Amino acid sequence: MPDNSNSSSSRDTDVLIIGGGAAGLSLALKVAAQSRVTILSKSSLDQGSTYYAQGGIAAVLDQQDSHESHREDTLVAGDGLCDPAIVEYTVSRGRECIEWLVEQGVKFTRERDAEKAATSNYHLSKEGGHSHRRVVHAADATGRSVFESLSAQVMEHPNITFCINTVAVDLITTDKLGLSGNRCVGAYVLNEISGKVTVYRARFVILATGGASKVYLYTSNPDGASGDGMAMAWRAGCRVANMEFNQFHPTCLYHPKAKSFLITEALRGEGGQLKLPDGSRFMFDYDPRGELAPRDIVARAIDSEMKRLGCSFVYLDISHKPDEFILDHFPTIHKKCLEFGIDITREKIPVVPAAHYSCGGIMVDINGKTDVGNVYAIGETSFTGLHGANRMASNSLLECFVFAFAAAEDILQRLDDVSLQESIPAWDESQVTDSDEDVVISHNWDEIRRFMWDYVGIVRTNKRLQRAQNRIELLQREIRWYYSKYTVTRNLLELRNLALVAELIIQSAMNRKESRGLHYTLDHPDKLTAAENTILVPDNFIPEQN
Ligand code: FAD
Ligand code: SIN
Repeated sequence: MPDNSNSSSSRDTDVLIIGGGAAGLSLALKVAAQSRVTILSKSSLDQGSTYYAQGGIAAVLDQQDSHESHREDTLVAGDGLCDPAIVEYTVSRGRECIEWLVEQGVKFTRERDAEKAATSNYHLSKEGGHSHRRVVHAADATGRSVFESLSAQVMEHPNITFCINTVAVDLITTDKLGLSGNRCVGAYVLNEISGKVTVYRARFVILATGGASKVYLYTSNPDGASGDGMAMAWRAGCRVANMEFNQFHPTCLYHPKAKSFLITEALRGEGGQLKLPDGSRFMFDYDPRGELAPRDIVARAIDSEMKRLGCSFVYLDISHKPDEFILDHFPTIHKKCLEFGIDITREKIPVVPAAHYSCGGIMVDINGKTDVGNVYAIGETSFTGLHGANRMASNSLLECFVFAFAAAEDILQRLDDVSLQESIPAWDESQVTDSDEDVVISHNWDEIRRFMWDYVGIVRTNKRLQRAQNRIELLQREIRWYYSKYTVTRNLLELRNLALVAELIIQSAMNRKESRGLHYTLDHPDKLTAAENTILVPDNFIPEQN
């Protein structure tokens, strides 16, 4: 049910889900038969990355494929840092997730080749790092299809209230209220339209807020990917891990007017070739798997060629394939590129790497439980141990569903044990006024994203990281002051979160004295023998609250 109430008094719910992407919507549908659910989403419903996902969902569906193979590929891509038990747990649930999505109405592309259809009903594509065709998809707009089916179910459900234009500001914890232990009892939530902050009381709070790639100047992600969940969790007392592993997708469309448009890895899976301006291929100079090497390798190779030749982009070429094949497999990309005057059936596509995915995040256990009582984190905001130092393509949506299901089961078992907190103080606005200098916010947004791109990007050094740290310390002081003086707005909240996430990324990158997976530094080019997660612990961390 959409929420049409303008009331600014406190709201009560059993399960408060912050985020309406693949992870949040799935969890909502799984718990709604037994509990009242409220989902919050910034702006409109399609704000998360889920809506824009192209390639698909990795799952072992072909009789000739196996969980062992999916597990092995994930471990190799993760460069020694994946948690093998979590990898096993996740890949073995692929079929269950796909079957559930089909029940919700998702229409995956069917296999039309009779010979291949004998081993899989669905057309399966291949992406970087996968040794088998195992990516189930809805043409090249998988995320939109998943999102539309799940949100349609959510809208009709009598126990689910869906609130758009709502931005969670912070979690409300017993620790912050001066009570014993550290349990979450709700959240402060800004209504983007009215500007009012309301208390949402809840028995369980789920962070499903997506990633933080907006911390970089160039990104494939939508505007809301500002790491809000990670920042809220850290402030509430949760540990975060492996924040230095930011994945750069190798191929985003390079065009002055194209904002954040991805060219799916499946295009390389179907034979797309990366080329230099002179038309020569280069990926085999870097890796025997060529264009289908894991993403960290392809993105670094492109970055290195761009720097070597001083060019602003390289090309991705699928024009050697028949027109019907291209139009059938990549209708969305074909249409979008045509809008920019590029006919992909005839021409090469100019592409550059861009920040795409946060492999690190809020530390959770196998049920998505965080360090703060009654708080779960699922989807891209979480760190489950699945991705290690580099996520393999199409494992992210899979992780969203697997951990949403696990968290839902855990919550349902605990539902009778947790009650609503009696009284929670209202949001205090008595000390703040409206800002008369919003330029500070936009300037700081731009500055963070620029120096993160330049100093904490695909290739790092000690000096660059140190420069980034000096700058973020300065900006953090300014933002804290600004936050204490002025009324909150969505832009200010996102800036505050983005700055904190940038600080955590820089700190984690400085802690890692090696090159591994997505973290590559010229000062420590080798990999250490022992693979360790980078765990950051906030000052207010209290162990064993869940
Ligand atoms: P999201 O879908 O990002 O949703 C986050 C939600 O949280 C949104 O509703 C947002 O409004 C809300 N939110 C955030 N902060 C707040 C706040 N403070 N208050 C209230 N609401 C908040 N992965 C794959 O596995 N396969 C693919 O093919 C694939 N393709 C991709 C293509 C693109 C262009 C991008 C950007 C990513 C792709 N990924 C893919 C990655 C994958 O889409 C994401 O990791 C995944 O969708 C994340 O889902 P999520 O539910 O965790 O978060
Ligand atoms: C893509 O389609 O290339 C994105 C897949 C992913 O990020 O997993």
